[in-house]
Amino acid sequence: MCGIVGYVGSKKACGILIEGLKRLEYRGYDSAGICVYHDGKLCIVKSPGRIAAVEKKIAGNVGIAAGTIGIAHTRWATHGEPNEANAHPHCDNAGTLALVHNGIIENYATLKQFLIAKGHVFRSETDTEVLSQLIGRFYNDGMRVLEDAVRAALTEVSGTYGIAVMSLREPDKLVVARKGSPLIVGVGSGEYIVASDASAIIEHTANVVYLNDNEMAVITRDGMRTMTLDNVPVTKEVQQIEWSLEQIAKGGYEHFMLKEIFEQPEAVRTCLRGRLDLRDMRVLLGGLEGVTRELVKTRKVILTACGTAWHAGLVGEYLFEDLARIPAEVEYASEFRYRNPIVEEGTTVIAISQSGETADTLAALREAREKGAMALGIVNVVGSTIARETDAGVYLHAGPEIGVASTKAFTCQLAVETLIALMLGRRRFMSQSMMEQYITGLAEIPDKIAQVLQQAEEIRKITEEFVRFDNWLFLGRGYNYPVALEGALKLKEISYIHAEGLPAAEMKHGPIALIHEGMPVVFIAPRCATYDKIIGNIEEVRARKGRIIAVATEGDEDIRRYCDRVIYVPDCLVPLQPMLTVIPLQLMAYYAALARGCNVDKPRNLAKSVTVE
Ligand code: G6P
Repeated sequence: MCGIVGYVGSKKACGILIEGLKRLEYRGYDSAGICVYHDGKLCIVKSPGRIAAVEKKIAGNVGIAAGTIGIAHTRWATHGEPNEANAHPHCDNAGTLALVHNGIIENYATLKQFLIAKGHVFRSETDTEVLSQLIGRFYNDGMRVLEDAVRAALTEVSGTYGIAVMSLREPDKLVVARKGSPLIVGVGSGEYIVASDASAIIEHTANVVYLNDNEMAVITRDGMRTMTLDNVPVTKEVQQIEWSLEQIAKGGYEHFMLKEIFEQPEAVRTCLRGRLDLRDMRVLLGGLEGVTRELVKTRKVILTACGTAWHAGLVGEYLFEDLARIPAEVEYASEFRYRNPIVEEGTTVIAISQSGETADTLAALREAREKGAMALGIVNVVGSTIARETDAGVYLHAGPEIGVASTKAFTCQLAVETLIALMLGRRRFMSQSMMEQYITGLAEIPDKIAQVLQQAEEIRKITEEFVRFDNWLFLGRGYNYPVALEGALKLKEISYIHAEGLPAAEMKHGPIALIHEGMPVVFIAPRCATYDKIIGNIEEVRARKGRIIAVATEGDEDIRRYCDRVIYVPDCLVPLQPMLTVIPLQLMAYYAALARGCNVDKPRNLAKSVTVE
């Protein structure tokens, strides 16, 4: 989704801004632009398409090459198609200021009408230009200080924003503000780098200030002032980014997605580190210490999330009911926030999010808190908005996830949910011997994931046999039903093959009509209580000449009789199976995308972090 970078310091801004934009590329975008101040001018270059197109256009632009203050943006179209006019930065009519914006200005139509009536001429179809024109109106109409004009304009808008603004009249100053869209300020020596995401900053400094909603900052080479949008000064703490540059580079892999699939043993190991106490056979979750008492008494858990994180939430529903015996429900964040949900006393809401910035998940969380629920977060990005707005939580520690198709965050989300469910289960009813089985089982998961990954080449071959088919089904039961959903989502996202995931028994209530000769049907069928039932479902597909790929438990030779291809995963306790059974499906999606010539790191229409609703 849209990305912001800004720079003020003594170095040439251009290279820093362009490199920063490249680091944000993974979020998804369809146009880009840059503005650098030099010699009395705001030099602006924009282009639809890749950042390389902007780079090509700025070659030879003396102003852009020379300036030491600037802003840049990658746009993911919401209002108006991805063309040059709609790309950011946007200016006011007088060309006094330039602005980049993430988020959506909801009342832009009304404001636009007002501005047109006052003589403003619009050059784009965007909601953002309305904001730049409005700031310009205040700035050129009596207000001489940029931050005053920004503040005045922001009180008129509703919606979400992360913005960076610069001006001709005050060419040493960047003004940034946020409400609902992340904004971070990297603090270097005599320089500042503003970005919507830490990955654009880490190359320059690990010292950062996270702005909260309704806060703004006025930044010059000499320092930074932070205040609320109502102009009340706030003192911000400089924090450390935990991730290194190396962690966000591809490290020899062809794509981020493949790298992250292969990082899963280490990611889950790190996620469990210090939390699984193998000596005393217990779970330690420092992030929940302050709320454990209340949590043990919770009457209901609502897990809320979007996309892959929602699938993790669905596994969580099974885990909390099964291991902790707490009634649990998973809710799409986008539905939950709007349907006036009943949140009874004693409810705990758990927001699951890799980025910690997903707009719907954040809104669902706020809705739940508003209604009195205790709010927990299962989040990867440290210091992200969701992490900061929860009462307590558990970080994934999965390392930066750059691939648009989420992989390692998913397995780590499952690991964290299991830890929480076990901790609560033990305090509520679970015997120590049962706890020990789970703790031992969980500790073995990283090595078992590594075993599954060793079959990557075999999985590639199997995928290539079936890749010409345009419709696939993924079927699973119990804990592996969410895995079926996730397998189908992964395939859709990056290979554009149509796929549906279903609880296996539901197939006969409709989707069975789709099955025809040769259609690939993936069964997630490890050994579990419903194993015989799923064999029955496999038979039903076979009878209709569908072709079957099964993910089964190592040693299950019998299943070969019913299936065309079998991919084995090591045996483990049933509630832990999703962390293993999802791995072959991630690899299948990856190899299918490669075989179909799709751009895995930049899947069409998708954004890594969806910060608009
Ligand atoms: C986007 C991504 C998905 C992700 C979802 C939720 O749609 O493409 O991969 O699962 O957002 O993101 P979150 O950061 O909240 O986990």
